[in-house]
Amino acid sequence: MAVGIFDSGLGGLTVLDAIAARLPDQSVVYMGDNAHAPYGVRTADDIYALTREGVERLWAEGCDLVVLACNTASAVALRRMQEAGVPQGKRVLGVFVPLIEALTEREWGDNSPPREVATRHVALFATPATVSSRAFQRELAFRAIGVDVETQACGGVVDAIEDGDMILAEALVRSHVDALRRKMPQPQAAVLGCTHYPLLQDVFQQALGPDVTVLSQPALVADSLGHYLARHPAMAGQGCGISYLTTGDPARVSDRATQFLRRPVSFAAA
Ligand code: DGL
Repeated sequence: MAVGIFDSGLGGLTVLDAIAARLPDQSVVYMGDNAHAPYGVRTADDIYALTREGVERLWAEGCDLVVLACNTASAVALRRMQEAGVPQGKRVLGVFVPLIEALTEREWGDNSPPREVATRHVALFATPATVSSRAFQRELAFRAIGVDVETQACGGVVDAIEDGDMILAEALVRSHVDALRRKMPQPQAAVLGCTHYPLLQDVFQQALGPDVTVLSQPALVADSLGHYLARHPAMAGQGCGISYLTTGDPARVSDRATQFLRRPVSFAAA
């Protein structure tokens, strides 16, 4: 019917927006598990169970392809889901690989051996669960050698965004950038490894300074989905438009989403 986009809450909307711009005719069902956000402070078992439930809900909506527009779910649950087996004809993809391919100057699906790349000092900003999974470093090691990664677990940022408290979220971003800089004074690139963070991309860029390249996922993921659907057209489905589901309070989630996307967004109960 459509492509499913899943996130713990509002962050995946940054990916959805990029997909809508890149693939304007693509039908999409967005699902935010706002009732259980944030995922980034949960255990791996919890994240796996919640992600699985959300993806199964989207499969049941008729989405053959589900994109986990959530780094925490991609880092902690995706591999386990794939190893457990997905139903015939269904697929689930994450958001890590497109980002790492961009960082390591690779074309989509280039699986040649790891090599030296231009960017050698990388700061990763992500949720505590993503940082402790080390999934970013693992995926990077398949593709690049000699890259020094310093991580910063950005506690509190997702909660503040979900609560609509952008003043707190901005203050937390500045203090997490300061903490990162104490460990790595001169990163060449900074990865926003949580789909909520592009909502604060300007704040990250300002705090990091103009010499740091800030890599944000939404456009990279949208491009990669475009390439994927060109190779697997049946996965695009046939519905029309975008619909929004949440496990949280639809009125509250719709208000926040409208505030972030600066256009009316209306969620229904999942
Ligand atoms: N947007 C999710 C991510 O990309 C946020 C996870 C959370 O709920 O803590 O990691």
